[in-house]
Amino acid sequence: MKTVTVSLGDRSYPIHIEAGLLPRAAEFLAPVSRGRRMAIVTDENVRPHLATLQASLTAAGVESEAIVLPPGEKTKSWAMLEHVCHRLLELGIERSDHVIALGGGVIGDLVGFACSIVKRGCRFVQIPTTLLAQVDSSVGGKTAINTAAGKNLIGAFHQPAMVLIDPDVLDTLSARHVRAGYAEVVKYGLIDDFAFFEWCEANAPALLAGDADARVHAIAHSVAAKARIVAADEHETNGIRALLNLGHTFGHALEAEAGFSDRQLHGEGVAAGCALAFRYSVRKGICERQDAERVAAHLRAVGLPDGLAAAGIDAPSATLVEHMKHDKKMAAGTLPFLLAKGIGRTYLDKTVDLADVAAFLDAEAR
Ligand code: GLY
Repeated sequence: MKTVTVSLGDRSYPIHIEAGLLPRAAEFLAPVSRGRRMAIVTDENVRPHLATLQASLTAAGVESEAIVLPPGEKTKSWAMLEHVCHRLLELGIERSDHVIALGGGVIGDLVGFACSIVKRGCRFVQIPTTLLAQVDSSVGGKTAINTAAGKNLIGAFHQPAMVLIDPDVLDTLSARHVRAGYAEVVKYGLIDDFAFFEWCEANAPALLAGDADARVHAIAHSVAAKARIVAADEHETNGIRALLNLGHTFGHALEAEAGFSDRQLHGEGVAAGCALAFRYSVRKGICERQDAERVAAHLRAVGLPDGLAAAGIDAPSATLVEHMKHDKKMAAGTLPFLLAKGIGRTYLDKTVDLADVAAFLDAEAR
């Protein structure tokens, strides 16, 4: 088993990664279940994994109650937040109890937020069931719901007490969703770890085909990178955690244009966004063209989009830039961009002119 610690003083927590962990989850949960009934929040798509988790708890003498929500991004809503909070209160959750979030990013974000406000904060454990949630959203304590004003605009930082990752649960995920999650894996190489990018180039086919060792290595390496970044900048205030947003500003525009629907999965938007960020860096004269081409070639090789056309987006540049302006990172009229001086050399640039970004997108669309 691999264990990575997120070091945040008295809010530090372990991330345990092991193939076949879920059927043994009760062992890991023993320190937090305290023999009390546990609430599990999940969605309809995750029912097989819910059965595995509940069987493990039952065998350990721990009763559990499941709150099963509809799947999909729409579940990150005020209505579902209210529903989950009410159900947790009905179940008599105490502040020291640990609620289990079993699912992808939607469940993790919603349950984390509910747990940040129920009784002014109760504890929770993340058991992520998608690659994207395993390598990114389950770690670091960002929680949120979506509202009419936009995605993730209402939320809180609320760290989990533990993250339990079983790579075997990815066996039931579609190849497209695994690929989309992989975009967040390769992103760690692009940010500040050229050697990991090289590992990704060599091992992505095995990883995406379900090779057990490749999965564990990719997940453990990714969460270690995220743990290091979160420990250095928990609340995204000093520019370090912002590095995790590489590809997200361009990607956000693509996702928004697709109506945040299955037409453009988050990870697909991030992949295309990373390729665009590298090519925009070339346009700005700060990145070698061959680095941008190498990134795009890798994304294409694994079946991820490497730009507007591959992402199926043909909106006018003005429309895409307008989407970017609704990004919550917008500050004092400027939008900080993650640009790259090369592979593994990402930095935060606060001087990007959105008119120049529009001109770049026009050139990309030709
Ligand atoms: N997913 C970006 C972050 O956790 O900061």
